[in-house]
Amino acid sequence: MAGSLILTGANGSLAIHAVEHLLKKYPQYTAILTVRDASETDVNTKRLRDIIARYPKAKVSIHQLDLSSLSATHKFADSIISGVADNRYPPISAFIGNAYYWNLIGDPEITADGYDKTFQVNHIAHVALMLRLIGNFGNDGRIVFLSTDAHWPGKNPMEVYPPGIPDDLNLLVNPTADDDKFGRGYHRYATSKLTMTSWIFALNRYLLKSEDLSKVAAVAMNAGNLVDSRALRTNAPPSMARMQTFFYKPFLPLLRLANGPTLRTAGPAGIDVIEMALSPTYEGKRGFFTLLEEDQSSPESQDEEKQQRLWKQSLEWAQITKENTALKSAFE
Ligand SMILES: NC(=O)c1ccc[n+]([C@@H]2O[C@H](COP(=O)([O-])OP(=O)(O)OC[C@H]3O[C@@H](n4cnc5c(N)ncnc54)[C@H](OP(=O)(O)O)[C@@H]3O)[C@@H](O)[C@H]2O)c1
Repeated sequence: MAGSLILTGANGSLAIHAVEHLLKKYPQYTAILTVRDASETDVNTKRLRDIIARYPKAKVSIHQLDLSSLSATHKFADSIISGVADNRYPPISAFIGNAYYWNLIGDPEITADGYDKTFQVNHIAHVALMLRLIGNFGNDGRIVFLSTDAHWPGKNPMEVYPPGIPDDLNLLVNPTADDDKFGRGYHRYATSKLTMTSWIFALNRYLLKSEDLSKVAAVAMNAGNLVDSRALRTNAPPSMARMQTFFYKPFLPLLRLANGPTLRTAGPAGIDVIEMALSPTYEGKRGFFTLLEEDQSSPESQDEEKQQRLWKQSLEWAQITKENTALKSAFE
């Protein structure tokens, strides 16, 4: 049965194309779209609304959700859970954790919950949403979290410090700062994505252990490096915006010859993410994907002992308890 598809950061560069593909190719699904700012004045949300307006029969709703607030995240989960219970929404078929945050020009920002904002938006909030909503999936739901080659030390040219899972996990939510805003900011981003990628392996283990949820499958997906993303103009040094305009976009065909197909625009990436979430071809797939191909994630992300430590700590960070998740095996 065509159920609900939940997408975070729905007005982002990749997500806008994903929404358009969803409405065009899979109109039978109910789209539950979250944005940080749902107001009329947000230009990106307006663009999203304009696209939705082209599909008057679409089953779509837009919800304001700031993922840097844990209480807002739990409140949103409550509203979806009650919406499924009273048949306002069909059971969840797919969840796409797409929203992300970085700050390459400033120090770590600590949220009201006491966590580094990059880490909270990219990892903790998505863990909270996922584990709160997991009981509302249909039998064969799919989870897609957006990863990146940056999670693997040495793979992304923007890296200054290699990402890694520290022995003291508290450093992930309270990172140290120094004068290197760009290098440290990118490190926080890459490490949050490494954490999320590792966590997906643990999630799949717990899903497979669970009697009711063993058919729900999760992937971490590197959808490519997107030359036209507004990420390069958001909390980023002006040199990155210049590189985008004068180098990445005009020379994309040449750059692809040297870098391969992962360097691309947001359009095809958005399409692939929806295909990963809904196409029968990817039903039951788990693990790490680059574009639409099964792939290996970094050696550290595959370290089971680290995955387990992150799993346990993430439950605590995200305020997930036996009482508020259907994935009871999470606590075994
Ligand atoms: N762009 C790339 O080259 C690239 C490469 C590898 C992986 N990825 C991954 O692909 C995904 C999409 O990237 P993109 O290029 O489409 O990014 P993008 O255009 O910068 O969009 C990011 C989205 O996240 C939202 N967001 C930021 N802070 C938020 C918060 N506190 N609460 C809720 N939403 C928040 C943004 O909303 P506002 O604008 O309203 O804040 C926006 O909708 C990300 O997960 C990214 O890590 C991208």
